[in-house]
Amino acid sequence: MSELFTWDAAKFSVKVPDMDREHQQIILLMNKLHDLYKSGAPASEQGKALTALAEYTVKHFSDEEAYMAKINFPGLNVHKGVHKNLLERIGQFAAGFKASGNLGDDLFVFLKMWLSAHICGIDMKYGVHPH
Ligand SMILES: [Fe+2]
Ligand SMILES: [Fe+2]
Repeated sequence: MSELFTWDAAKFSVKVPDMDREHQQIILLMNKLHDLYKSGAPASEQGKALTALAEYTVKHFSDEEAYMAKINFPGLNVHKGVHKNLLERIGQFAAGFKASGNLGDDLFVFLKMWLSAHICGIDMKYGVHPH
């Protein structure tokens, strides 16, 4: 099955190894969720994979915010706000899934767009901040 998202260091590395590792883990969890969805796995399995992705995203955002605080990154508060919005969106998708039992293609459009736009747009900025 084709991957939803493929890691590409040239495009996505933020030059902070711990954060690159976490981004790769998020991609892995997204791809896993997408495989389960596309292969029509039981809703319970899809639900577990969605929870795993949501929980790891919470961990990643908190690690990233701690890293930005550590290097005194001036854009920390704006970045935190963006993370908060993303978690709200994921929460909305999770609620929708709970109600309908169907993840829906929209979720994957969102995840794909979010990951590339967020990493390439805003995460890169702390990567180039002196540390
Ligand atoms: Fe971020
Ligand atoms: Fe990130």
